[in-house]
Amino acid sequence: MSLKSKDLVSIRGLDASDIGLILETAAGFKDVLGRDIKKVPALRGKTTVNLFYEPSTRTRTSFELAAKRLSTDVVNFSVSTSSVVKGESLRDTALTIQALGADIIIVRHSCSGVAHFLADNLGASVVNAGDGTNEHPTQALLDLFTIQERKEAIKGLRVAIVGDILHSRVAKSNMYALTTMGAKVRLIGPPTLVPEALEELGVEIFSDMDKGLRDVDIVMMLRIQMERQGKGFFPTTVEYFRNWGLTPERLSRAKKDALVMHPGPMNRGVEIASDVADGHNSVILDQVTNGLAVRMAVLYLLAGVKG
Ligand code: CP
Repeated sequence: MSLKSKDLVSIRGLDASDIGLILETAAGFKDVLGRDIKKVPALRGKTTVNLFYEPSTRTRTSFELAAKRLSTDVVNFSVSTSSVVKGESLRDTALTIQALGADIIIVRHSCSGVAHFLADNLGASVVNAGDGTNEHPTQALLDLFTIQERKEAIKGLRVAIVGDILHSRVAKSNMYALTTMGAKVRLIGPPTLVPEALEELGVEIFSDMDKGLRDVDIVMMLRIQMERQGKGFFPTTVEYFRNWGLTPERLSRAKKDALVMHPGPMNRGVEIASDVADGHNSVILDQVTNGLAVRMAVLYLLAGVKG
């Protein structure tokens, strides 16, 4: 059992059977994580390196734990105390890590395309942990896993992705993953943050949140990505919350049993009210928990690919 490529750099490179295999494998690892002994010897002897050029809590920690639960050796590369600060290039840094014996390199970077670049330049497997505004494939996979756990079938579900679509790698990976699995995707947000060209991917676009949320099964909120916004895309965060923030009243437009999701970290009171983030429709912490099983599945399946 393995994937077709040695790397996971984007959801676009996966078909429905690849995604199905990852979700099925993750379900097996979720069972393992429920046992007293949560570790398996599956990847003993392999070495995994976390190469994060941008901050992370969930992704970095869960990849580290996933690698440890699979019995690989793990190195967390610290960019700020490395020779990167002396000007060493990304390619030289990655080649150096590979020369030290890394089998799998997990990379996060502010530039779109970095994971593709490393995958083309390395014999080691490369996993994209988020590249600029491009993709965050394991986030979309854990989101699908969480949806499938609660709703069983993804096909036919109405999913609203709300907020800063323009700068969101999570939104792009989810759009590809959800449409591949047969969900109907709506994008909701200010016109400045929702490119009309995305309609070509078969999604519907709404600027009116009350209309966009009507009868949806899933409400996936996005973080406003202040660090990627060079200019003002909306007047103030207060105004943003008034128009596109998820409140209990707004959530009532969706189906009664709609799931509320957010990849984290959240800006409470900007894109989501605390009542909703912590409310009974929220599966935000389930997403975090499921990230571990899904990342174990990805590492396990990539390790099975013959180079
Ligand atoms: N969802 C996500 O990528 O979170 P982190 O930035 O904390 O890894």
